[in-house]
Order: sequence, then C-alpha cells, then structure tokens
Amino acid sequence: MSAPDDVLVSVRGLKTYYSIRGSFLDRLVGRTGAAVRAVDDVSLELRKGEVLGLVGESGSGKTTLGRTLLGLVPATEGTVEFEGQDITHASEHDRRLLRRRMQIVFQDPHASLNPAMTVAQAVGHPLEIHGLARGREEVRARVADVLERVGLAPAEQFMDKFPSDLSGGQKQRAVIARAIILNPVLLVADEPVSMLDMSVRAKILELMLALKHDFDLTYLYITHDLATAKFFCDRIAIMYLGRIVEIGPSEAIYADPKHPYTQALLRAIPEPDPRRTIPRDLPRGEVPDASRPPLGCSFHPRCPKAFEVCGWESRDLKELLERRWAGLGEEGFEAEQAAVGPMEALDVAKTHVRLAAHGGAHGSDLRGLLDRARAADPAEPFWTGVQEMRDANGSLEIDWYDPVEPRLLPADSVEVECHLYDETALAEAAQRRQSRIPQ
Ligand SMILES: Nc1ncnc2c1ncn2[C@@H]1O[C@H](COP(=O)(O)OP(=O)(O)O)[C@@H](O)[C@H]1O
Ligand code: SF4
Ligand SMILES: [Mg+2]
Repeated sequence: MSAPDDVLVSVRGLKTYYSIRGSFLDRLVGRTGAAVRAVDDVSLELRKGEVLGLVGESGSGKTTLGRTLLGLVPATEGTVEFEGQDITHASEHDRRLLRRRMQIVFQDPHASLNPAMTVAQAVGHPLEIHGLARGREEVRARVADVLERVGLAPAEQFMDKFPSDLSGGQKQRAVIARAIILNPVLLVADEPVSMLDMSVRAKILELMLALKHDFDLTYLYITHDLATAKFFCDRIAIMYLGRIVEIGPSEAIYADPKHPYTQALLRAIPEPDPRRTIPRDLPRGEVPDASRPPLGCSFHPRCPKAFEVCGWESRDLKELLERRWAGLGEEGFEAEQAAVGPMEALDVAKTHVRLAAHGGAHGSDLRGLLDRARAADPAEPFWTGVQEMRDANGSLEIDWYDPVEPRLLPADSVEVECHLYDETALAEAAQRRQSRIPQ
C-alpha cells in the first residue's frame, strides 16, 4: 500500500446513476424510476505523479467516472477525496478553487474551443475568470509561454488565430494549453487523441508526457484503446458496465491479463504483423444496457469462461434461443419459435421461469428443443448455470443457481473481479457441480 500522502485522489464506493424516465411502454409495464448505473461501486486511488489509464469499450462509464471525480456530474453514492479532503459535495465556491487544481481535456478539440475566440483569448480565459493575472499584457505573456510549451511556437504566430485556422492536432494543443495555464495538479484526459489523425496521435501523447514531467502532473487517461495505453500509463484500470474489473501495473496487465474481459480486449488489438492470425473479435454480443445489468458478474453473457456461479438467468435463455435460431434454417426456426411463443417474460431477470409450450406443443417438446440446443453446443457456458429443468403441465420449469456477486480481489500484482480468482466462489461452483441433478 502506498503511504496516504502519495495519494492524490481517492474514490470510495462511488456510484453515479442517471435517472431515466423511460418510454411510455416502460411506464405501462411498471418499469419506472429506472436508472442507468453508469458508475456502479468503484473504489480506486490515483497516486501523485502517475498516469492511470481507464480503459473500456464505449458505454462502460469512463467519461462519467472522470466527470464525477471532477464534480461535473453529482455522485449518487460514495466519496471522492482530493488531497485528503472530501470534495464529493463541495460548495460552488470550493469547486471554483478546485477547478484551478483539476482540469479536463475532452475528446473533441473542435467542440472545446469557442469559434469566436482567438487562441490567446481562449487559452488566457481561465486566468481572467479566476482573476489570476494583472492586466492584458500579463495574460498575453503567460499565454505566449504556455503556447510555446505545448509546441504552438513561435507563439506570436498562433495567438491571434481562430480555431478554424488550426489543424485538429493544433486545436488539441491549444486546449491542453488552456488546461495547464492555471498550473493544475490533476488532468483528466478523456480520449484526448481519439478524434485526431493517426499521424498526430503519438505526438500529442508525447507532448502530454513531457508536460506531465515539466508541470508535475497526475493524469487520469481515459481511452477505449488498450494499445496506446500501453506506452502511456503506469497503471491501468479496466472498466466494464460501471465497474473496475481489473486494475494493476501496466506491465502486469499486458504480460498476464487475468480477467476474461481484459484478455478479450488484448486479443482485439490488431496484430502489427499481418502474417500472425490471432482471433481479433471481442466476445459475442454487445455491452448490455446499464439500466438493467446482468445478474452476478455483468460480463457473464459474453464470457467464454463463465461457470456455475456467474449469474445465469432468464435473459441468457432468450439470448441462447435467439443465437440458435439465427443459425437454423427457416423451417426449424419457425417450428421452434412457435413452440416457445412470445419471450417477453424472459426479459425480466429471474432465476426461475415457467416456460409455457405454445402452438400445440408440450412441455416435453420444449425440453427436447433445449436438449437439441445443448447437444449442438455442449461447451456453451450457459448450461453450467442450469440447476434443474422440470416438465410441468404443458410447461417447462427452469431453475438457475443463485448468482454470486464478484469482488475485486488481489491476484499476483493486480486486483481482479472474477470468480476464477476467488477461492470461495470456486468452492461453491465445485459443490454445485457435484450436487447437480442429472438432466
Ligand atoms: N447524461 C446522461 N443521461 C443518461 N445516461 C447517460 C448520460 N451520460 C451517459 N449515460 C449512459 O451512461 C453509461 C456510461 O456512459 P459514459 O460514461 O459516457 O461511458 P464511456 O465514456 O465509457 O463511453 C452509458 O450507458 C450511457 O448511455
Ligand atoms: S466472474 Fe469471471 S468467469 Fe464468471 S462471468 Fe465474470 S469474468 Fe467470466
Ligand atoms: Mg466517454
């Protein structure tokens, strides 16, 4: 553990939920008061002088976490401490002071700059609003200095230009200049290069590393690109559906990824040598809806290694059937779909369902259908989660095991949130396997 005075930011049990009204249909079926769980119980520390990478697919909650940290979005639960002070509910006055110390650089440099302001006006603006420079000359002198530092040199050539006169890379340099002119200690960089041309990305990242050194900065670097994070970050946190699923030193994450999601993200990095053919696909399916996350481990519907304890439920059955039907001929698909009937009942997460047979079929036909699905793909992890199937008066009843919530636990030099590294969960799974009722 690092000494407390090494820690710049400490986040504990942070949740940021966005409330959504839902559609008319949602309200009709009683799905009101739903919330998007954009950040769902995150704890982490940012140490002084480090670059912490926050990596995950789009929609995983990276931006929301970065913005909550800076107080741009209110936390629903939990705390954010900055330099030892709880700033979760800081007053507007304190926030103003904090903005000198914590800055953010957004993805789109074009949208970040007011088209009607010159570079000098934009970059000098923070000095003016915080009343930190005496007179126009001092503002210009400090702007000139910071422009040179970000590589917009000679500064005189850039000061009176408008954003429309600059390239994408130059705009992002100006945005970075504006972010560092107040001498902050923390910079949250939210995908700062993802909208720039490939050719300038590395240059901007090199600039950011040089500035970090010159200005003693600490970075939270947000990206969906694990490849660039490798050379840029000291530590990496992998985020999935609002949670940190793995966190540790960059070398460890790249050399020995533990979480199946991290492993998949690494496999998805294009191989520089085209003769090597490594599968590059991310796991099946998409990132699920963050207002209705899967039970148990949120990654289980996509996880190739999921097993008995990972949180199997009704929605997984629906997905399994849909995947199967996509691969069947029209006739087979129509017959099976007619027997199963409408599947809305499977949309609400449940570990017990009673599936009524339709179209003249019987419960035993449904069982036959599921047996065929299983025989076609016996390695499918879904089947490990089925505790029992029973025919009952024209229906098939299915029970899944209770979900077990994964916890972020140490594993070698990282921390990982996956049952594969949790002795208690492994023991529970072994017991379930032994006592399973033969189907
Ligand atoms: N203002 C908002 N209102 C409602 N939902 C939001 C809002 N902003 C983001 N979300 C949702 O929160 C989740 C996380 O989004 P975001 O933090 O932008 O993730 P990322 O930066 O990883 O793409 C997504 O499901 C997104 O649709
Ligand atoms: S707990 Fe681990 S094995 Fe289970 S679904 Fe999640 S990532 Fe996969
Ligand atoms: Mg984002």
